[in-house]
Amino acid sequence: AEITEMIHTASLFHDDVIDEADTRRGQPAAHHVFGNKMAILAGDYLLARASISLARLRNVDVVECMSTVIEHLVRGEVLQIKDSRTGVTDMEGYLRKNFYKTASLMANSCKSAALLRGNVTPAVVDAAYCYGKHIGVAFQLIDDALDFEGSAASLGKPALADLNAGLSTAPVLFAAESLGHQLIPAMARKFKEPGDVELALRCIHEADGVNRTKKLATIHAEKAMDAVMGALEPSPFRDSLVHLACRVVDRSS
Ligand code: FPP
Ligand code: MG
Repeated sequence: AEITEMIHTASLFHDDVIDEADTRRGQPAAHHVFGNKMAILAGDYLLARASISLARLRNVDVVECMSTVIEHLVRGEVLQIKDSRTGVTDMEGYLRKNFYKTASLMANSCKSAALLRGNVTPAVVDAAYCYGKHIGVAFQLIDDALDFEGSAASLGKPALADLNAGLSTAPVLFAAESLGHQLIPAMARKFKEPGDVELALRCIHEADGVNRTKKLATIHAEKAMDAVMGALEPSPFRDSLVHLACRVVDRSS
């Protein structure tokens, strides 16, 4: 968990520089306080400390899982930068990017926890990966829905950040399924013309894009629950995992 948290925090230090975000978790983003160079180096340092802790586990399978996460985080960010340049993506590409930028960290961290526990069947290791993957996809879908619903105060980071960065996330993509003739030109312009953001918000409202995103997140949370219910014996720990899957889709911040 410590290693996962260090990798996650390192990626956010870097992400806030790339996204030029003002705030993170309700506080000024690190690059605002310490400058870009220090924020990037702080991310690198955390990544280095995480690598040392990982090596000290003396488990090559876990090293492979967690190194794969770092590769996937970078891959996800590159896909996102490409999307933000062209302004256009489809649901399949969006979900693939979400796996790389969010779900892989959770999938491989859960798998690593199962591997480190030892004495577990391959089915339990697979279930742990499957649980983390679906929790990750659900988490990112809710994150993308909240970007439209939340305020900067409730989110602790800027609202409507994705649209303003020219990114089309699930609520926009659902709206584009039925209202593409209106939305696709604005998506391709990365919502930069006056009125584009308002147009996107109107289309999302008309197509119920935010609720459809939340429903898709719920389907993934249920898949996460099914994974642990099918592979683990009843226990308070299994209950906690099921509870966590509910919390991921119920959150409002
Ligand atoms: C947040 O996404 C960002 C990520 C999930 C990953 C960022 C990854 C990198 C910058 C690659 C470098 C990786 C390492 C390990 C140093 P978001 O911008 O959609 O979410 P937000 O609204 O919380 O900022
Ligand atoms: Mg960001």
